[in-house]
Amino acid sequence: MKALVTGGGGFLGGTIVRMLRERGDQVRSFSRGAHPTLAALGVEQIRGDLSKRELLIKAAEGCDIIFHVAAKAGIWGNYDDFYSANVTGTVNVLAACRANGISRLVYTGSPSVVFDGRDVEGGDESLPYPDSYIAHYPQTKAMAEQIVLDADSPQMATVSLRPHLIWGPGDNHLVPRIVSKGRAGKLRRIGRKPCLVDTVYVDNAAEAHLLAADRLIPGGNISGKAYFISNGEPLPLWDMVNRILAAAGLPPETRSIPPRLAYATGAACEGLWSLLRISGEPPMTRFVAKELATAHWFNIAAARRDLGYEPRVSIREGLLRLGQWLATEEL
Ligand SMILES: NC(=O)c1ccc[n+]([C@@H]2O[C@H](COP(=O)([O-])OP(=O)(O)OC[C@H]3O[C@@H](n4cnc5c(N)ncnc54)[C@H](OP(=O)(O)O)[C@@H]3O)[C@@H](O)[C@H]2O)c1
Repeated sequence: MKALVTGGGGFLGGTIVRMLRERGDQVRSFSRGAHPTLAALGVEQIRGDLSKRELLIKAAEGCDIIFHVAAKAGIWGNYDDFYSANVTGTVNVLAACRANGISRLVYTGSPSVVFDGRDVEGGDESLPYPDSYIAHYPQTKAMAEQIVLDADSPQMATVSLRPHLIWGPGDNHLVPRIVSKGRAGKLRRIGRKPCLVDTVYVDNAAEAHLLAADRLIPGGNISGKAYFISNGEPLPLWDMVNRILAAAGLPPETRSIPPRLAYATGAACEGLWSLLRISGEPPMTRFVAKELATAHWFNIAAARRDLGYEPRVSIREGLLRLGQWLATEEL
């Protein structure tokens, strides 16, 4: 198989690439930067922005499948930037499939597309998209996912995987954020309710992508569908955060602020950052305040049944691996 992986130099994309290479597939990666680890794996790299359709069409030449993993993630930023990377970029990936006669597209979605600020406990794929969003990331990921699933046809099979809070060695989002805030004493629990949240170890999330790819055929039983992917081990959010802090040799966080105060602070920060055009992320947003004060864990029975997905690396084993990695990293 010859695969194009968008964002192959990123956290999840890099793991997908490694697994594809380990089983002997040819891989090409598309992203803006150059990633030396990819060169070492024998991966061809095409550099470009997802907004450049012609570049993507060229990058996909000769490929059998596209894993569209690249996206602009984050809790803050300009709407146009999120739209360009996540929506226009996805439209361009679909154009690259069509222009090259590629009949399989595995898209990396996000469970945040169904998050409406309320608890989700054991929710499955029947959860609807909410009417509105309080952050650009889930909004543009939802738009992109709908475009991907609507494009499923007898000529081209598409599937979306929604991995929930990916972590592990090499993490450049969740773990560094927790560790740096924990080290600076800036973490606070939001409320005292022990909200269950699930997460997914990066190798499990990547393996789900390969399993989906291997089962994806036009008109097949997974085409045109979305699947939640997690470790299937929901834990109280702050237990998980404290386990990550412990893996970094840091003490647990016990201090808390009330959810309403966190939400109001998020709203105030967003207003201030927009008004004064402050660069960088605000310390709190409404989306983060809601995410940290609610339960969100998912039923992964559909992924187990249709993809043969089984989270092979447990949280316990993943944390051991994370601890080993953190011991060698300066975060
Ligand atoms: N991490 C999570 O917890 C999580 C949870 C749910 C879903 N996801 C989804 O998983 C996917 C991968 O996330 P990740 O955590 O692995 O993020 P990541 O490490 O930031 O990887 C994203 C990659 O996309 C590339 N990219 C971003 N914008 C681009 C653009 N405009 N043009 C071309 N390439 C671009 C980046 O490479 P360059 O900088 O070199 O361009 C980067 O390597 C995303 O679709 C994300 O929405 C992540």
